[in-house]
Amino acid sequence: MTTTEHATAAGSGASATETFRSKARGEGHVDHARVAAVATDALTALHDVIRKHDLTYDEYDALKAWVIRVGEDGEWPLFLDVFVEHVVEEVNSAHRRGATGTIEGPYYVPGAPESTGETTLAMRPDEAGTPFLFQGTVSDLDGNPLADACVDIWHADDAGYYSQFAPGIPEWNLRGRVHTASDGTYRIHTVRPAPYQIPNDGATGALIDAAGWHSWRPAHIHVKVSAPGKELITSQLYFDGGQYVDDDIAQAVKPELMLYPEPATSGEGEQVTYDFALDPA
Ligand code: DHB
Ligand code: FE
Repeated sequence: MTTTEHATAAGSGASATETFRSKARGEGHVDHARVAAVATDALTALHDVIRKHDLTYDEYDALKAWVIRVGEDGEWPLFLDVFVEHVVEEVNSAHRRGATGTIEGPYYVPGAPESTGETTLAMRPDEAGTPFLFQGTVSDLDGNPLADACVDIWHADDAGYYSQFAPGIPEWNLRGRVHTASDGTYRIHTVRPAPYQIPNDGATGALIDAAGWHSWRPAHIHVKVSAPGKELITSQLYFDGGQYVDDDIAQAVKPELMLYPEPATSGEGEQVTYDFALDPA
């Protein structure tokens, strides 16, 4: 390892915070009744935890110090996406009938390089990892293939690091917006990502250590799949038998999201076919 060994929680946390600020949704009209209902229930849930565990003043002070540190480390996007987002995704995807989604996480960056049809993702000349062909079809709910649908893909490298969040990786490494061919198919050549470890030198890592949890997510490929008139789906695909698939700290694994790779017909690396059916918008 040369280029990414200095990845730090503060580094990736600050980048994640910056990225989130630039794309934040949810500003504008305030529904006071809804704020009151949600905030009251959230605070009441916290009060109940304090009573249940007889929280001491030392523990209350430790909580305050930790909350301050999460902000200083820029880790709120990381912390919330690991421990909270999966339930937000659950309640917001209950109506879907097509492809299964899961959390976005903190490392999506809009505006990746665009291409149509068979594509090799931007990668370093010596990119480490098993060559991996990720292919399939995007269709509507009736199975009609969708030409020019967009598979916006991003994933970590063979060391578990994301471009634009860990230092020393080219800007769009292992990121791309790949449009389906006229028959609705996509074919993306990349490398298999490694499991991802929550940065352990920041506030989130401190909580994980203090609780005696592990800090890993299984290896995964992120996608946002979209087409005109269809509802965009944000998802992640995991690797059957991969480490941590049964014990994801972000609780974002679902059985429908498992990939079953096979040796590539090219003889080099592995390949897998995964199809997406998009709900109407
Ligand atoms: C986090 C990182 C990920 O790669 C992901 O998919 C979800 C969450 C995180 O560090 O918060
Ligand atoms: Fe991720």
